Amino acid sequence: MANRIQDLLTRMSLREKIGQMTQLAIDAIAVGRPYRLEDPLELDPHKLQEAIVTYGVGSILNVGTQAHSVERWRGILAVIQKAAGQTRHRIPVLYGIDSVHGANYVAGSTVFPQQLALASTWNPERVNQLAQIAAYETRAAGIPWNFSPVLNLGRHPAWPRLWETFGEDVHLVGELGLAMKRGYEGDDISHPYRLASCPKHFLGGGWPLTGQDRTPSWIPDSQLREYFLPAFARAIADGASTIMVNSGEINGIPVHANREILTTLLREELGFEGLVVTDWEDIRYLHTRHRIAASHKEAVRMAVEAGIDMSMVPLDFSFSDCLLELVEEGTIPEARIDVSVRRILQLKESLGLFDQAVYPLEEYPDFGSAAHRNASLEAARESIVLLKNEQSVLPLRKDQKILVAGPAAHTLRSLNGGWTYTWQGDQIDELLDKKEYPTVLNAVAGRMPEGQVYYAPGVDFEERIDIPYAVRAAAEVDVILLCLGEASYTEFFGSIDDLYLPDAQHALAYALLNTGKPLVLLLLEGRPRLISKFADQVPAILAAFYPGNEGGRAIADVLFGDYNPGGKLPITYPRYPNGLIPYDHKATESMPLQESGVRYNPQFEFGHGLSYTTFAYHNLSLNTPELTAHNLLVISVEVQNTGDRAGHETVQLYVSDHYASLTPPVRRLRGFKKVFLEPGALTRVEFAIRARDLAFVDQNGEWITEAGSFTAGIGGLTVDFNYSA
Ligand code: IFM
Repeated sequence: MANRIQDLLTRMSLREKIGQMTQLAIDAIAVGRPYRLEDPLELDPHKLQEAIVTYGVGSILNVGTQAHSVERWRGILAVIQKAAGQTRHRIPVLYGIDSVHGANYVAGSTVFPQQLALASTWNPERVNQLAQIAAYETRAAGIPWNFSPVLNLGRHPAWPRLWETFGEDVHLVGELGLAMKRGYEGDDISHPYRLASCPKHFLGGGWPLTGQDRTPSWIPDSQLREYFLPAFARAIADGASTIMVNSGEINGIPVHANREILTTLLREELGFEGLVVTDWEDIRYLHTRHRIAASHKEAVRMAVEAGIDMSMVPLDFSFSDCLLELVEEGTIPEARIDVSVRRILQLKESLGLFDQAVYPLEEYPDFGSAAHRNASLEAARESIVLLKNEQSVLPLRKDQKILVAGPAAHTLRSLNGGWTYTWQGDQIDELLDKKEYPTVLNAVAGRMPEGQVYYAPGVDFEERIDIPYAVRAAAEVDVILLCLGEASYTEFFGSIDDLYLPDAQHALAYALLNTGKPLVLLLLEGRPRLISKFADQVPAILAAFYPGNEGGRAIADVLFGDYNPGGKLPITYPRYPNGLIPYDHKATESMPLQESGVRYNPQFEFGHGLSYTTFAYHNLSLNTPELTAHNLLVISVEVQNTGDRAGHETVQLYVSDHYASLTPPVRRLRGFKKVFLEPGALTRVEFAIRARDLAFVDQNGEWITEAGSFTAGIGGLTVDFNYSA
């Protein structure tokens, strides 16, 4: 109802309008600072009154506090909305949260694999299904706005938020990102089972030069557009409701102050009409960290002029106060404020918040249901990548004795990662029952006869505990399951100096390999920690990234062959610290050097993943060798299951441009399809390519497809074709 919004705008005071642009953390209206699990969250009536009634704050978000039950969340929301009901215009508060892998701040919710693990499924339908469940369970708690999905490309393997991405490839991130956005929003975000999504972090996140969080990126405009923009452009074209800004700086300009990106590109070119929210305290950081603003007030001016609508402040009223001054003194016109407030009110309207801020709990009978958990289990199974399997070490047999070792074996932190009940996911072991949500150790032990599973962690993530004990235990068993990797972390808490797994984990790996016992390496981690110092000696390797609360079960299913793995890497798994090169690199990054071998030499390639069965590819063919601006190139291939087990295969189409006016990447993923084949079964898979699918961004920022010759490759087969306009 445009009238309601227009009517409100004409009646609201400047202070009230600016209040709508302000987003506080719930901690700002709580008693004390409830960051720790043991601090109960209790709203402070005076702070609440000041925030909602005096300052007219339009939005609250949750970070850092513990997970609450659905009932508790609804109670908190009711108190907040009641306060909003006491304001002059009774504008409901918009509550936002990071439900990034399920409703991960709601106790008893269904927690899914994290995005990088989901990307390993290469399955947009699965991603869409889980997003729908996440929306359902988040809205059940009364929360209508989700700061997800992450549409940054994960281009730097050390970046501590890599696991929050769908990986390194433009096409894969675009497909899965769209599926997730649609799962959250559906066709109508006022529906009780949908919510507003927030693709983030616009634009260019995920490729800091240092690999450390929130450090500068240097990305040429052509690359920004060709690589980092498409996933956002697709989500925006599909109607994404909100966007969160990238905390970093690109080419010397913090994105929060970049009008070119936030207005010229986002609004004028992409036509985005939704709400743009800053990230945490990022306006202040223009002054205190990036140092392009000499004062906080100057920072507020820059961000508002660049195009933000709402400031995630998060703990005080400084943004409101500065902005009020800027408008009152005439630096920022009130009409500019109206533009943002209209967008904010429009979102509240579209979500149905004016009419019914929270829907009755009875509408959510499936919250945390067995069906939802089963979807999480299926996703976790699908996400596991079998990287190596020599000497038929896998599947394991139940008549064997197994030593389960390593720091990731018996903690839910390595299954879930950050944003799990708490910001850093660091209290999940205390919060959950490890029988109901089994760790790898518990899941494996649950499948085996009593007495056949031994456990010796050997080390924790960074320090040695008792490696000799683990070695002695290894002498008793037939096979070792070594679980290495990382605990949970996010953002700057996860920054590292060294991509290799920590020394203690290396020591354990060497010691157990020296026993000569067959060893399966299970990697539970948020990024590809380097394993090259011992990987060649390990016969079987599985990567599971962060597979979620059902991950332990899913891993046991794969280990014992009850599920045939089919996951594929959504990132390149590097071998060396100086070889952090994505698969779609330039030719000069993989040319033989005169003496030092080959530069591009990853541990495992992007798209790699084995199965307990085998697949063969035949008869790669084209409908025509001549693509033009007016026809379609149809590329097809036969895939056959040549082993003795049914299994999934993800058929991947790559195209290489032989010569281009800007150095072409060696290949780019241009399509993928996942098939399920019974033993012996054969299917033909087809991809249709248009000229614009082969385009790149030239130095003027224009998408062009240059005439010339190309190679299409699928499953090791290749065929050439030409393009002429
Ligand atoms: O959504 C997050 C963002 O990804 C990182 N900073 C805090 C935001 C709100 O929790």
